[in-house]
This record gives sequence, C-alpha cells and structure tokens, in this order.
Amino acid sequence: MNEPSIPPEKQEHMQILVSELASANTAYHAHDAPVMSDAEYDRKMRELRALEEEYPDLKLPDSPTMRVGAPPLDSFDAFHHDPPMRSLENAVTEEEVLAFEERAKRFLLQTYDRNIEAFDFTCEPKLDGLAVEVIYENGFFHSGGTRGNGISGEDITQNLKTVRGIPLRLQTPEGGPEPPANLAVRGEVFMNLQGFERLNRERLEKEEPPFANPRNAAAGSLRQLDSRITATRPLEIAFYAVGRVEGFSFHSQSHLLESLPGWGLPVSPVWRKCANLREAVGFYEELLRGREDAPYEQDGVVLKVDSMELQNELGSTSRAPRWAIAYKFPPKQETTQVEDIIFQVGRTGAITPVALMKPVRVGGVEVTRATLHNEDEMRRKDVRKGDHVLIQRAGDVIPEVVAVIEERRPLDAEAVPMPVECPICATPVDRPEGEAVVRCPNPTCPAVVREGLRHFASRRAMDIDGLGEKLVNQLVDSGLVSEPADFFALSKEQLSSLERMGEKSAENLIEALDRAKKPALARFIYSLGIRHVGEHIAEVLAERFGSVGDLSRADTETLVSVHEVGPQVAERIVRFFSDAKSRQMVENLLSAGVEPQAPLKAAHGDVGGTAFSGLSFVLTGTLSGRSRSAAKAAIEAFGGRVSSSVSKNTSFLVAGERPGSKLKNAESLGVEILDEDAFERMLAREKGS
Ligand code: IVH
Repeated sequence: MNEPSIPPEKQEHMQILVSELASANTAYHAHDAPVMSDAEYDRKMRELRALEEEYPDLKLPDSPTMRVGAPPLDSFDAFHHDPPMRSLENAVTEEEVLAFEERAKRFLLQTYDRNIEAFDFTCEPKLDGLAVEVIYENGFFHSGGTRGNGISGEDITQNLKTVRGIPLRLQTPEGGPEPPANLAVRGEVFMNLQGFERLNRERLEKEEPPFANPRNAAAGSLRQLDSRITATRPLEIAFYAVGRVEGFSFHSQSHLLESLPGWGLPVSPVWRKCANLREAVGFYEELLRGREDAPYEQDGVVLKVDSMELQNELGSTSRAPRWAIAYKFPPKQETTQVEDIIFQVGRTGAITPVALMKPVRVGGVEVTRATLHNEDEMRRKDVRKGDHVLIQRAGDVIPEVVAVIEERRPLDAEAVPMPVECPICATPVDRPEGEAVVRCPNPTCPAVVREGLRHFASRRAMDIDGLGEKLVNQLVDSGLVSEPADFFALSKEQLSSLERMGEKSAENLIEALDRAKKPALARFIYSLGIRHVGEHIAEVLAERFGSVGDLSRADTETLVSVHEVGPQVAERIVRFFSDAKSRQMVENLLSAGVEPQAPLKAAHGDVGGTAFSGLSFVLTGTLSGRSRSAAKAAIEAFGGRVSSSVSKNTSFLVAGERPGSKLKNAESLGVEILDEDAFERMLAREKGS
C-alpha cells in the first residue's frame, strides 16, 4: 500500500486544533469559565475529525475525538491502587466531630509529643458518586479504575476517557508549576441534578427504567462495558486527593486543591480552608442550608487536616485516615407506611402504580406519595398496602419506594393487583408482550387528554405561566378546553367565570397565553407529546428541520438519517403526523396564532461570535418580564450559558425580585450583578446587533 504523503501544515493544524480544544475543555470544566461557544467547539471538532479520517496515522494520543468511546469489552480487568484508596470515618453529630478532633490531638501528643491547639481544616463537600483513580504518565492520561475495595477495583480506562472533565493531557498553567511527571489523582465521578433529571426523562421517553438517584446513574454509567454508552452520559468529576506523585510535593490539602485546576484537573467548585473546627462546622451548616439549591447531590462535608506534615504523622488505620472525617448530612431517605396503592394514567396512557403514604418529611420536604414505576417494579419490590417502606427523593424527581421493610410487614398487608381496565375510562388495558408498561389504549380517555394538555402547558413545553394542574383540570371539567388550541380561544369572561378565578388572574393568564404564542420550535415540538420525543430529541429535530411543516413531511428514512434519531423515534414521528386527529390538532394551533420560532442557528447561521458567547449567567429571584426558563432560553440563544450556582467564574448574576442566597454569594465573590432592567437592555442590545 502506498503511504499517502503527509503535508506538514496539516499535521501542525491538527496539533493546534487538539490543543485549542483541550484548553477550551479545561476552561469549561476545571475553571468554570468557558472561552469558546459550543458552536465553535463543535466546528473545530468536526474539522479535527475530518482531518483524522484523512490522515489516521497523525491522530494524536490526546485527541478529544477519543471521547466517543471504544468497542465494548467482555469484562473489566483489575486495577490496583498503591497506596490503597481508603475510606472515611463518618460523623453524624457535632459531638462526634469534636471527638474526632480530640482523638487526633491525643494521637499526636502521645505518639510525637506534639501539642496542637487547633487544626487548620480544609473542607469540601462529600459528593455522592463513584470514587476513581486516574493515572497520568509524562503528562498524558494513561489509565483509570474504580476504587473497588480500596486495594483493587476495575479498570475503566475507556469509560473514563469519555468523561469531558478528565483531561487527556495535563496542562501547565501560565506562570504556574509544571504538572508532576507522573501522577495518580483521585476523585469522585458524579452526575449533576440537571443531567440526572434529563437522563431520566430521556429514559422514560424511551420506556427504559429510570435511575433511582444520581449516584446510581453515575455508577451505572461508569460500569458500562460499552464505553460508547458512557460517552452519552452527563458525567462530571471533582478530584480531591492524589495517590503516587513523582516530581512534585503538596504541602497541604489546600495547596493540592489550588494546584490541580492549573493542570486542568477539576476540583469541587466550593471548598474552604478553615482556621479551626468551629469554622469547619460553620461551613458544614452553610452547605446544609444551601443543600436544596445545590446543582448536585452531596451527602455531607469532608473535613481534612490541612497540613500534609500533620496528615503524615496522624497516618491511617487499616480502614480510614486519622486526619479526615465525613460529617454527614441527614439522609434523604425515610421510612413510612403505605396506606394505599392507586393507579395513575399518564399522557401516553401508561398506567403507573403509586403508593399513597403516611406523610413524612424527607430532606426538608413533605412526601405523601411515591412512584412504584410499573407492574414489574411493584412485584420485584413486593410492595403491599400496609407495608412499612424505605423511601427516598433525589432532586426534583418524584420520590420512590426503595424497599419494603419485611420484618415490619403487618399480617393483613395486601398485594394490589394491576387493573385490567383503565381506572378512568374502563377501557380494557393493553400490555404488549415484553413491555413492563400497562396502558390505556383509548386516545380519548379523559386522563390521557388531561395529561396531554398539562404537558402542553408545562414549564418545559409551552411554559404558559399560571396554567398549572388545577386550572387545566378546571378548564377540562367545565368543557372549555378539550385540545391545546382551545387554550388560545379562551376569553377573559370565560376565565373569570371559573371558581376561584379573579379578574386579575384571568387577565394575567390571557397575557401569558399571548406571550406563549411564539415558542421556540423545539419547545413546540416537545409540547405535542409525540411518544419518545423528549426535550433533547425535539431540539435535534428543530435544528434539522427548522419548521413544523418540514418535520411533518419527513419520511422515516430522512428521520433516521438525523444523528440521535433511531428507528423507533422515527416511526413514532411519522405515525403522529400521518394521524388525521394529530394533524388537525397541530393545524388548529397554528390557526390559533401560534408561531413556532426556528432556532437561531438554523435561521442565522453560527452564533459563535455573539456578545454572550463564553459568558456564564446565574439567575435568582423573580423577573417580572419573563419566566426563568424564558430568560434562560434567551441567554442560550445568544450563546451564553446558565448555571445554577454562583462561583468566582460567573460573569453575571441576574437578580430579580426577592433574590435568594445567590445574591450574597455573588456580592462576596465580586460577581457583577444585573437587575432586571440592565439584563433586558443587554438582551435588547444583542438583538439589535
Ligand atoms: S477523601 C483518604 N474527599 O467518600 C481520603 N472522599 O467514604 C479518602 N468522597 O471513597 C477520601 N467526596 O468516594 C474524600 N471530597 C472528598 C470526597 C470523598 C466524596 C467519597 C469517596 C470515598 C468516600 C469515603
């Protein structure tokens, strides 16, 4: 075979692309300060991929194109840790934390005759995910494994390569130290709540079982034999310790946390060096108060004696170091009793068993119902009426029953059979072979219609302010609304005739409906409730087709050719648009004055160069002019990014009425604060440009 001649300028260009993409990646993950828009990043990736296809021999070992995953393995090899990855002692009360410090002081006094009055502690959130070790050799990602039993875990090198936050090559910070020649770093791979909720929504859309919590989702994603699946999961990493290090030494834990990001290794965005135990407890209390607002799940705070010299003197027991402790938050699991099991009919007709329970507070929220997902899950867990159960909640996800406490099962506990008829319209149910889901097949079932309308108006779909569950029910019951287009024909008089509806609220709703008439195309597509078309697929379709008309005319073949659209999804879309009733429903919406807006990208080309690209925004409080999701959409449309928590790399905090604790954080970090007017002016400028 003839070697193709390799033009040197191509080789150089590939090197430049790899290093630009690596810097952009680090800026995003390790510094939370993006320097490149998603569009530009994608363009450079495509360019690199094309070059690599043309000149496969020139593919660099740290090319980001490796992040798509590799062919599946049969099993994982073992991965050894030297020194071992230890666990942590736990404390659940302040007394236990005080006792931990006392033990450490006593140990130093007795062993080294060293008298310490107060330790400096470096405190970090204890993130709830899976512990891993990643090895760098000569600055390049070499391999990685799970913690396992601490001495030996599983080699998940291929999977770790797909985690965007893990650099494939270490960087040298400007004016900072070079990375160690050889380095083993340890950290937690986790999934943030937004990613977790999105993944679960997509899984439900595809009728796959959802993950119970972000931890399971992260662990399940990392232990995939097929790393191409891992590559599609929104995994993040925060490093917090090192194993073997050659060519560098850390004098303290805070030094370690300050050094890692410089080499491109992300650490937790929040941590604090505390001068004594009181301050450390203060940090714990602060994080506990902010727990519900945090973008990821934390199960406590890890306190570490800051000085490495003292850490070395304190050493470890076989299980855990004497210089660190995990001060745990109260669990988000509780026990309660199932009073009844009922069956809910969803918008796709799916019939879901739901446990009604004695009210119980879980992580600060009162819970009275928990989903049992489907018949198989209910049988597998064997949940019966009267059972005492362990329940948990994660993020905004509907609480779920984890397990039955069998020792406490009452003698008269009753298994509840799945209904053979729809509990709402009495149509005999459908259970297709091989599917876990039982369905009401009647498209005019009142529950199906009602849920479809609720979905249409919901925040993630058309986002019609004030049109929540109760009002939709009222409108359906009063016969005013039976399909989505009917919402837009409502008059103020009709609305104010409803119970508990004042004139002002009626006016507000009419205004909200008016505002909702120009939805982003993706939201409009999503709001139609086509099976298997979740938010993400809706976005993909909006980008590809640019209008409802073009989407409705697409055949299966065209649809399947769209990246991420599989045959099942394609078939559903075709089926939807060839159904006369659905077509009519869409036409009625368009006749009612709804004008879906084509995505900016499709309409105006690239958004890479806008004034918002590379900026990160955080929203707090209530804006009078637009809903939070509308504000987010506007920022994103101009190439900006919206995060849920303030860090020193946040560009702007947009503060509406009654701002939360984020305002204080922003002030203390010196982040620029925009009031609603300033924010609107900024958007208007961008629109005009
Ligand atoms: S330090 C010797 N720091 O907690 C020090 N661990 O119970 C060992 N974890 O296996 C770990 N966040 O999975 C440390 N900031 C943090 C952590 C953390 C989460 C996990 C880790 C470890 C487990 C120990």
